[in-house]
Amino acid sequence: MQSIMNIKTELKVMHACELGAVGVYRGHKCVARYFFRSNLAELDSMRFHEKSHAEIFKNELSKRDSRTCYAVQLFFWGGLFYGVFIGLFGLKSIGTSTSTIESIVVHELDKVLEKLDVRSSLYTTIKEVQLEELEHNDSGKELAGENFWLSGFISRIAKVGAYSAKNLASIL
Ligand SMILES: [Fe+2]
Ligand SMILES: [Fe+2]
Repeated sequence: MQSIMNIKTELKVMHACELGAVGVYRGHKCVARYFFRSNLAELDSMRFHEKSHAEIFKNELSKRDSRTCYAVQLFFWGGLFYGVFIGLFGLKSIGTSTSTIESIVVHELDKVLEKLDVRSSLYTTIKEVQLEELEHNDSGKELAGENFWLSGFISRIAKVGAYSAKNLASIL
């Protein structure tokens, strides 16, 4: 299905998912403010990155006279709700969710990159975004640690959340 999407659809999906990610880290931050204050700055820096990624994809859409998803703020609010929910299971849960989602994002960005000319400016832009997503993936792994008893459960929810957002964005 991904292969038949045109680049405008890809950008629309990436923009909506980045907004969702802003919501997710905002939600984690809300919980961290009360329970894990020492990780607040790290979560906030990831939120800041996601915000800039959403801006980047919004600009790429404008350059192509293309629209963002309908009801795009839904992704932010959905992400926020999800981020708070996951945060309530603790810091390892945030880490597990982060590494699961970010590894999906890295993989999905790879699929988009495969369709682009390596000399195009969009290729370079997406590569830069992907580098930050890889950093998020590492931070997530570090926060999750090892032997987290809810790891399977949290990563299953994260996968469903990430792919639902992607599928919804492609039809809105
Ligand atoms: Fe991002
Ligand atoms: Fe990210």
